[in-house]
Amino acid sequence: MTAKTQGAQAPASAPAGALPADAAATARVQWLRDELERHAYQYYVLDDPSIPDAEYDALFSELQALETEHPDLLTDDSPTQRVGGAPLSAFDSVRHRVPMLSLNNGFADEDVVNFDRRCAQGLGRTAAPAPADGHDLFSAAEATDQAVEYACELKFDGLAMSLRYEDGRLVQAATRGDGETGEDVTANVRTIKAIPLKLRGKAPAVLEVRGEVFMYRAEFDKLNERQAEAGEKTFVNPRNAAAGSLRQLDPRITAKRPLSFFAYGIGELQGADRPATHSVMLDGFAGLGLPVCAERQVVKGAQGLLAFYRDIGARRDQLPYDIDGVVYKVNAIAEQEQLGFVSRAPRFALAHKFPAQEMTTTVEDIEVQVGRTGAITPVARLAPVFVGGVTVTNATLHNEDEIRRKDVHIGDTVIVRRAGDVIPEVVAVVLERRPADARAFVMPTTCPVCGSHVERLEDEAIARCTGGLICAAQRKQALLHFAQRRAMDIEGLGDKVVEQLVDQGIVRTPADLFKLGVAKLAALDRMADKSATNLVAAIDKSRSTTLNRFIFALGIRHVGEATAKDLAKHFGKLDNLLAADEAALLEVNDVGPVVAQSIANFLGEPHNVEVVEQLRAAGVHWPESEPAARAPLPLAGKTFVLTGTLPTLSREDAKERLEAAGAKVAGSVSKKTDYVVAGAEAGSKLEKAQALGVAVIDEDGMLALLADATGAQPEDAQ
Ligand code: IVH
Repeated sequence: MTAKTQGAQAPASAPAGALPADAAATARVQWLRDELERHAYQYYVLDDPSIPDAEYDALFSELQALETEHPDLLTDDSPTQRVGGAPLSAFDSVRHRVPMLSLNNGFADEDVVNFDRRCAQGLGRTAAPAPADGHDLFSAAEATDQAVEYACELKFDGLAMSLRYEDGRLVQAATRGDGETGEDVTANVRTIKAIPLKLRGKAPAVLEVRGEVFMYRAEFDKLNERQAEAGEKTFVNPRNAAAGSLRQLDPRITAKRPLSFFAYGIGELQGADRPATHSVMLDGFAGLGLPVCAERQVVKGAQGLLAFYRDIGARRDQLPYDIDGVVYKVNAIAEQEQLGFVSRAPRFALAHKFPAQEMTTTVEDIEVQVGRTGAITPVARLAPVFVGGVTVTNATLHNEDEIRRKDVHIGDTVIVRRAGDVIPEVVAVVLERRPADARAFVMPTTCPVCGSHVERLEDEAIARCTGGLICAAQRKQALLHFAQRRAMDIEGLGDKVVEQLVDQGIVRTPADLFKLGVAKLAALDRMADKSATNLVAAIDKSRSTTLNRFIFALGIRHVGEATAKDLAKHFGKLDNLLAADEAALLEVNDVGPVVAQSIANFLGEPHNVEVVEQLRAAGVHWPESEPAARAPLPLAGKTFVLTGTLPTLSREDAKERLEAAGAKVAGSVSKKTDYVVAGAEAGSKLEKAQALGVAVIDEDGMLALLADATGAQPEDAQ
């Protein structure tokens, strides 16, 4: 008999519905709980899954069934209780037996040096003398063996939490509140899978674990996607999402939110001695099955602290969660006690903050920029704000829909985010601070540069200037694109030169570049003779190129470097490409209907072909080859949209298979969609498909199409 059937059996004589637990059921329930907690620990704490999800689910269902059968066996710390109990009407208050304090903040290196000096002095160590200048900050302190030892860790950007374990069982979870009194969020915290309901090994009689509840960024993104798909409100950042999720009165909602936890301190402790050092305490936490962040280090003196800060600072954007700094704590607990507290913060600890990645500022105006393909992008002009380590004055608003979705008005106070090298963006509006005279943005109906009509196609988010190359803004961008390193690689043709060449009417098309002489260029502003000579030489050199660079340089919409390569390889010769119609283009690897149509449109414009001919006449050349012989891909020209969760394939897998057969996989449903592949919990895309009468198939249907397309036709099978 297998373990599973054994557990599911019940004595035949007992009444249905609520059987008294027999010894076998009791043992089985205990075994299942231990197993499930062990697997959850492997998965959520160690990030090292021990069994497939399906097996975990089977054990879980078995435990649920047994608990329904024997309600007397149900306990609060059963893993089944993590799904969330009945909603609360309000949170009770919890008085913290050991207050939850805050940390003093430091920003500059100097603050760290001073913190270290204060600790050393407070501990009666030989204090480092104040630095005479900035060059020799550490030598005095580091030269002695008196340097203080610190435990360094991260400052997680989440919510402080106190978890009370009695005899190893989680009995209460409370927020920080004002530090003295917090809120009882036990029912919600029980749903957080990274938090053990029962500690492993030998737990003290009472242990209050202090730490941070937070959300991994990837989980946050997925949550926001789900929220948006369900038409629910999205969250500004992982911290807000974590806070909002914990403050739910209905724990079943919290259970669906991907919260996590890191432990970093102790509140009340009974039945065990305090560990000798902070780092030993963290190791002890890990031994009890609590999640402890691996990014921690024991160092000595201010130099050690600053080295840790720099190391983490350099990797901040690669960490999978948000942090707003690092935290230094004197490592020896006896020394912590010696240093004590001043008002609400410990003298033995310091939070060394990173530059904020989100700040508020005001939108002074919303202007539009015209890109190479005529795309009109609204840009917020901001009151200068220092964010992510630089002063930001502009932030992209992407498109009209985005402005409506975020509800950005001119005059609004907004949260601006700049993380790493990412372009600054407006994440949200602070609606409470909207002034009475705030104005809504209106998309211009004519191009601000050339006055041509602005159009927005039905299925597109982007509005475009229809001026094409008569629009100076598009012409400038087209020339810069043509000259860039990955295209024709004309060194020295930057935006200042292009700006003047276009504004003075010297250059209209890329072909005009090849007519430029030194004298004309040297007459431009800030262009020395030498630079003019170099630029002419660079233009000359660019005449010898490759077909893929040339195709990419033309700046055809949707034709990036990879597509240009595919086109060059497929057609071999430029004339073959020029002669291709949409059907012929669809035979090219990775070219779907949108790209094919865009290329066909480009080639259909006589002035584009004229420029191509002028470029060839100007001596632009490349080695030509024979076209690659390839059978057309079976699903070429077909557009698919994937939605919901497919039973066996991941979205990526499904997409890859479809694309390998030549299909295009689009993100949204339109009249041009051929098939919508719908899985479980398919949302608005499925509805739209039904409304538009687009064919809807499931995973099996898709696999059948692929099988047909890849040649496993019925006649082959017979
Ligand atoms: S220790 C007595 N360690 O920062 C010191 N706090 O300003 C208690 N925080 O409310 C806090 N990461 O939410 C400590 N590694 C860390 C932390 C951390 C984040 C937060 C915590 C606390 C605030 C203190």
